[in-house]
Amino acid sequence: MREDIDPGRRERYMPSMIDDKIKSLNILIAPDKVLRAHARPVAAHDNQAVRELIPRMFATMYRAPGIGLAAPQVGLGLRLAVVDLMTNDKPAPIVMINPEIVALSKELATHEEGCLSLPDQYADVIRPALVKVRFLDQSGARKEIEADGLLSACLQHEIDHLDGVLFVDHISALKRNMIMRRLSKDMRQKREDALVG
Ligand code: NI
Repeated sequence: MREDIDPGRRERYMPSMIDDKIKSLNILIAPDKVLRAHARPVAAHDNQAVRELIPRMFATMYRAPGIGLAAPQVGLGLRLAVVDLMTNDKPAPIVMINPEIVALSKELATHEEGCLSLPDQYADVIRPALVKVRFLDQSGARKEIEADGLLSACLQHEIDHLDGVLFVDHISALKRNMIMRRLSKDMRQKREDALVG
């Protein structure tokens, strides 16, 4: 599963979902310490902040464009993530507050993963094929999702972010170092291009 998606899909999909007035949040890029921290549970006193944050997280995710975004990726150490696979260009937004993995299958599956915090970097990641996740939705209702395929990988990837884990932690050190080196080179190049242009 790639956290980023083909922009064409976003174009077909976004207008109905995004209010132009909603400002995007800045997505942190690895290696940023915030991405490595354990996020804390959302508490009752966070309600107002979370209510304001959710539309901005969706807007940021759709504009990236991506299919998942966790609060630590926008610099907030809260156990909160948004997901929308946009399968068949149909909106299916999921808000997960304080998600918990309650079951994982023994059976494994491989998906190519990417991450908005590691732009343009991809690797095959092996994870449990099936996952059962419990969380609170936007209205505070208890939800449970059993997922397989892409959604399973995506939910696990986003919940990893809440514990400071990135998809590259699931691959060999050799591949991880290669990706991190390439990413820092890309980012340096981008900064240089921005200075010149
Ligand atoms: Ni990610």
